[in-house]
Amino acid sequence: MNDIRERPFRLTDKEFNFVCQFVYDTAGIVLNASKREMVYRRLTRVIKERKLASFSQYCQLLKQNPEQEKHYFINAITTNLTSFFREKHHFDYLLSIELPQLLKRNKQQQRIRIWSSATSTGEEAYSIAAIVYESCKQSLSSWDIKILATDIDGNVLAKGKAGIYDEKRIEDVPSVYLKPYFIKGTGENAHKVKVAQCLRNLLTFKELNLLHQWPMKGPFDIIFCRNVIIYFDKKTQIELFERFYEMLAPGGLLILGHSENLGHYQQYFKNVGRTIFRKPF
Ligand SMILES: C[S@@+](CC[C@H](N)C(=O)[O-])C[C@H]1O[C@@H](n2cnc3c(N)ncnc32)[C@H](O)[C@@H]1O
Repeated sequence: MNDIRERPFRLTDKEFNFVCQFVYDTAGIVLNASKREMVYRRLTRVIKERKLASFSQYCQLLKQNPEQEKHYFINAITTNLTSFFREKHHFDYLLSIELPQLLKRNKQQQRIRIWSSATSTGEEAYSIAAIVYESCKQSLSSWDIKILATDIDGNVLAKGKAGIYDEKRIEDVPSVYLKPYFIKGTGENAHKVKVAQCLRNLLTFKELNLLHQWPMKGPFDIIFCRNVIIYFDKKTQIELFERFYEMLAPGGLLILGHSENLGHYQQYFKNVGRTIFRKPF
């Protein structure tokens, strides 16, 4: 690794510690020494864009205007890696088990609510929408079915809302969903695809910090919280699990990412699949 001190900007221990604390206080994300290089790279970009002279100046700006700077800072620092049908077993479970069950279980109220709670650029939410559309086609006109997609990062949400992706991004989309739900662009958009309106109609994108108050009443039948709690400490994770539990309908599902688990909170859920947890009825 290159020596950080020989680079155009110098990131001192004090500044790095300040940045770590700011990220923790704002987003609950824990950064340690192994993330120093990443912090350096991502914030160097911000410092240049802002035409500032040093990390010290940037830290000063964060201290003086935390509210104003917070969004830009979080957008720069968060990791937004995602893809369509990532961890496909979760979508297979929805298609073959959960949605057929929900259509029976919720017959009385004719309502289904799903929350993609750290949705990034929307691929997770649109994958859910494709499965929901396929499973619930017959019921869509009479049922109230909605998918809420939230993230702390306004930039990624804007991409999600636009629903336009490079054609390369849909390589992993099962072929059965390609034609009906991803419309190929023409002319200058020849290498892009747009998500079909029938899926977009199911979705609402909203900015939401998982650590803050949630304005939704719930209950949700399924909550996706994948590949984000890995960045949080145990205390924040447990607080979140408690809140997700409260937000879920009896029998509702909480779905985590591949390297995540509920720790000792698992005693309150039933493990029904790979990182798929059901709240008891
Ligand atoms: C690695 S992406 C995961 C995307 C998707 N869930 C998946 O598994 O493919 C993590 C997302 O969590 C979001 N995030 C980080 N801290 C958050 C917080 N406190 N509240 C809400 N979203 C947060 C980031 O902005 C990022 O888009």
